[in-house]
Amino acid sequence: MVFTARNAFSQVQRRAFSASAANAYKVTVLGAAGGIGQPLSLLLKLNTKVTDLALYDLRGAPGVAADVSHVPTDSVVRGYLPADGGLEAALKNTDVVVIPAGIPRKPGMTRDDLFNTNASIVRDLAKAVADYAPRAFVCIISNPVNSTVPIVSEVFKSKGTYDPKRLFGVTTLDVLRSSRFISQVIGTKPEDEPVPVVGGHSGVTIVPLLSQSNHPELSGELRDSLVHRIQFGGDEVVKAKDGAGSATLSMAQAAARFTNSLLTSLAGTPVTEPTYVDSPLFKSEGIEFFASKVTLGPHGAETIHPLGKINEYEEALIEAAKVDLKKNIAKGISFVEANP
Ligand code: LMR
Repeated sequence: MVFTARNAFSQVQRRAFSASAANAYKVTVLGAAGGIGQPLSLLLKLNTKVTDLALYDLRGAPGVAADVSHVPTDSVVRGYLPADGGLEAALKNTDVVVIPAGIPRKPGMTRDDLFNTNASIVRDLAKAVADYAPRAFVCIISNPVNSTVPIVSEVFKSKGTYDPKRLFGVTTLDVLRSSRFISQVIGTKPEDEPVPVVGGHSGVTIVPLLSQSNHPELSGELRDSLVHRIQFGGDEVVKAKDGAGSATLSMAQAAARFTNSLLTSLAGTPVTEPTYVDSPLFKSEGIEFFASKVTLGPHGAETIHPLGKINEYEEALIEAAKVDLKKNIAKGISFVEANP
């Protein structure tokens, strides 16, 4: 055996050392054996800031955990099922909870059509988070995000654990799609095409601010078709999967990126990302949640940025988004009121 400084330390010693470092976090995935949960778990295993990865699902999570645990990064992966307090164990002492649980769309469905099934799934998981991980940062992927985030906030309020800075709707896929689609139109690299996307995460509530991209000159039919593709990018995947679900791989990548931004910020390097949060931007108009650029920090959502300068075309898009958002948010809130 070759003797190196690294193997002079036992696994326990190394873990104790890394756990004391800033970049050492427990992340829990609720819905880890599903279409998004599996690739997301893999991507989180590859993230060296994650030292403990807890994978929970109604079935299959121990298998996913065993599989992912062979990926050679130095984190511990455990799989949990509902039996024997599995949900509590998955959530105990966790720093970040990511929730992709729920069913996906089939062709012809809107995200809102998932409400009846996913609302109660998310409500019940939120109750468990409030009970077992009341200080965790919570990232919601389960659709319809415009309504599930308000559901989680209502549950947390009822449990006395709500901290608006710690709850996020993951809208990162809209940001990634915007960069990719604009790069295809212009013939550039997606990483060179940042586009702020604001509003919510469904149809017309997704508002890419192209005037703040590198191509404010885009106009007419080209701009309209690009905006439409970004707003309805999810439908493209649902249609292509032809009944087998919606975006899982790109959504996992988006959620892994947002989780990484959050962990980077918790560790002291602020990152600014669009995300759907409890926002002051349109509260006076009765819209409690809104996605805009948010600077993340050690306490979560530190600064919620205003939209900045937008053009007339975007003003109209925002107005349309607000109409749907208001209904989506109210639906989530009334659901918890009627079904606590
Ligand atoms: C997406 O944007 O791809 C996801 O929200 C899944 C969906 O239903 O479109």
